[in-house]
Amino acid sequence: MSRREESGLVTAGRGLWITLEGGDGSGKTTQARLLAEWLGAEGRTVLHTREPGGSEVGRLIRDIVLHHRGDIAPRAEALLYAADRAHHVATVVRPALERGEVVIQDRYLDSSVAYQGAGRVLDAGQVRELSIWAAEGALPDLTVLLDIDPEAARRRLDADDKPFDRLEAEKDDFHRRVRDAYLRLADAELERFLVIDGALAPDLIADRIRARVRALLEH
Ligand code: TMP
Repeated sequence: MSRREESGLVTAGRGLWITLEGGDGSGKTTQARLLAEWLGAEGRTVLHTREPGGSEVGRLIRDIVLHHRGDIAPRAEALLYAADRAHHVATVVRPALERGEVVIQDRYLDSSVAYQGAGRVLDAGQVRELSIWAAEGALPDLTVLLDIDPEAARRRLDADDKPFDRLEAEKDDFHRRVRDAYLRLADAELERFLVIDGALAPDLIADRIRARVRALLEH
């Protein structure tokens, strides 16, 4: 039984759902793009999407969570991400999986557990349950975690020369808690996670991801 069936997501069974996770500046957005391009060249129908902001409603929510000036109460922030997720899974992800497509998704519920749970110090179990409820139990087939030291990631973001959003602007301590939480999540679900050192060369990282995805597609 696939992980998606186990978690109660009913699909036509042909689609494959891959999420990418990691701290800000870990390189996952580049890897999501490379993976989507490779799968497209292999003749697969790919939906490349992200959270927050993978739907029209989600783009409005993304603007609030990333660019609102001033504080947002931690529970309100968790609910905003969960609202984006509920709408995204129901209207974008699930239909694509039912059509048999490969969904490549930049961030999913592990981001909420790491950022709102460990970063904002909410109860990680409750944050996870909130997302599971929002997404009606849907879990991806594979989650790629790009693990990187927050200080190295910060240097990459500095070099980008773009203004920091609300989360990127958080202190080093926050980003260290996020990293540790991600590693704990990966340890707890070895089968779903592929952990890769985000400091490796992008081509090497892309090769490792492709190898795992190829195996999943042949399965
Ligand atoms: P990104 O699209 O550039 O990765 O930015 C999204 C930001 O939102 C990033 O700092 C991580 C954060 N985030 C959460 O805090 N919780 C979540 O559930 C998600 C999906 C993202």
